Amino acid sequence: MDWEELLQQYRQRKEKIFEGGGKERIKKIKDAGKLTARERIEYLLDPNSFVELGAFVEHRATALGMDKTKAPADGVVTGFGTINGRLVFVASQDFSVLGGSVGEMHAAKIARVQDMALQYKAPVIIMNDSGGARIQEGVDALKGYGDIFYRNVKASGVVPQIAVVFGPCAGGAVYSPALMDFVLMTSNAYMFITGPKVVETVTGEKVTNEQLGGPLVHAQKSGNIHFVADTDEEAIDLTRRLLSYLPNSAYEKPMYIEPKDDPTRLVPELADIIPAEPNKAFDIKKVIQAIVDDGEFLEVQPEFARSMVTGFARLGGHVIGIVANQSSYMAGVLDIDSSDKAARFVRTCNVFNIPIVTLVDTPGYMPGTQQEYGGIIRHGAKLLYAYSEAEVPKITLIVRKAFGGAYIAMGSKHLGADMVLALPSAQIAVMEAEGAANIVFRKEIESAENPDQVRAEKISEYRQQFANPYVAASRLYVDDVIEPQFVRLAIYNGLELTFSKKGSVGVKHGNIPL
Ligand code: HXC
Repeated sequence: MDWEELLQQYRQRKEKIFEGGGKERIKKIKDAGKLTARERIEYLLDPNSFVELGAFVEHRATALGMDKTKAPADGVVTGFGTINGRLVFVASQDFSVLGGSVGEMHAAKIARVQDMALQYKAPVIIMNDSGGARIQEGVDALKGYGDIFYRNVKASGVVPQIAVVFGPCAGGAVYSPALMDFVLMTSNAYMFITGPKVVETVTGEKVTNEQLGGPLVHAQKSGNIHFVADTDEEAIDLTRRLLSYLPNSAYEKPMYIEPKDDPTRLVPELADIIPAEPNKAFDIKKVIQAIVDDGEFLEVQPEFARSMVTGFARLGGHVIGIVANQSSYMAGVLDIDSSDKAARFVRTCNVFNIPIVTLVDTPGYMPGTQQEYGGIIRHGAKLLYAYSEAEVPKITLIVRKAFGGAYIAMGSKHLGADMVLALPSAQIAVMEAEGAANIVFRKEIESAENPDQVRAEKISEYRQQFANPYVAASRLYVDDVIEPQFVRLAIYNGLELTFSKKGSVGVKHGNIPL
């Protein structure tokens, strides 16, 4: 063969690979308003930065009519490229090829980029669109999944792992996203262990794909995912934005960006946003937006366990992770879901060297049989564990209520906070005044001629004596009580101080889903 023939053959092979599952199947994808596997990579990465690996991979299955020609690139496009100049590894499943199903070689391609991500210390982004384990490949397909899961765990806490789910994600396919740091889903996607038909056979329950595992189910109820996007493009834009808050690995800090927003800017508006009355609800996100650079806050799991707000922002150019109680949802109570949500977020920040800023305004852990039977003791303990374990700078501002166990759990000095600040509106005590007065002064109240009046007096006495920031400040549990207008400046000063001492980076622990 001469060069001309060799190249002709080569180009024909390549062309076939680029056609994926063929024009008809590609048209179906496009008609559904989606991007193809290759278009997703193109949209995700910087122009012309993609380097494909394993394009010529073929499966070696022969059972059930399997034929190599039907599976260009074996249904997944893999390689590396850059996002804003930063190295990332990618895998993008091609639904047009055997439904993006995972066989032995398909899995080997994903495992290869996972290995490389670990070796070269760069994030890995897996774009899921798959019918799950390739039925025709039997146990080889299951082995393939095992290989992927194993690498997900080995990479956990070392390099950022982001899963984007664009289509079906059924059966074992759900567990790779679940093991990664962040999961994004488009409105066309669904994730479940078993589909509606199996559910109906086993339990008799009739549900649609969407009811069983649509994006809203996972965003609001199960808490399995972190972000929802309307379209493929939106999901990829969000992935790029999320990545801007993460370092390339646990061995680096997230990127510092010279702030345009003056770190010493005063925020007098906080006094209007935060009601001094402890039982008046307000939106803590308005406080967050007021204090961070340019008001930009990327909320993580915005629709799940809404009594807790978690997310990323920058302050003085440094990336910070924010954990905050939301008084406008269930009074900001700590329950099973909000404890899990915050604990996982704190651990995510710790592995990726992101300082944690905590804003406290919570009446405490949620009482009742539902929570106790669900294991609030075990779930609440995760929050204590996560804060105690976190080595990154931890700065806490007590905004209003900080009662009982929740005071300790929400980034208190006692769990290793580097700096604890409080507003004059803060109330730090074992419990709220009403409950406390009823217990401590029960006999006095019961035996009084005018119990209601005595109760009111005792509540007021308790509030004055305990429900303020000054007792804690007198013991150094609170480093300073500050005016609302100085909050941004005070947190910035705290960050600068702690950065000078807490510079260590490196692998701390994995990021197990909680
Ligand atoms: C092989 C598959 C496949 C699979 C889909 N295809 N899933 N091939 N193995 N798991 C093929 C179809 O045969 C079809 O091929 C093409 O992909 C597109 O599929 P359609 O069914 O035509 O598409 P659609 O109507 O959009 O439905 C998509 C779907 C459905 C909902 C994903 O295909 C489906 O239910 N698939 C099975 C899902 C499932 O139960 N997976 C779990 C597997 S068990 P042609 O040639 O016609 O285009 C598992 C356990 C792993 O994953 C455990 C690891 C721990």
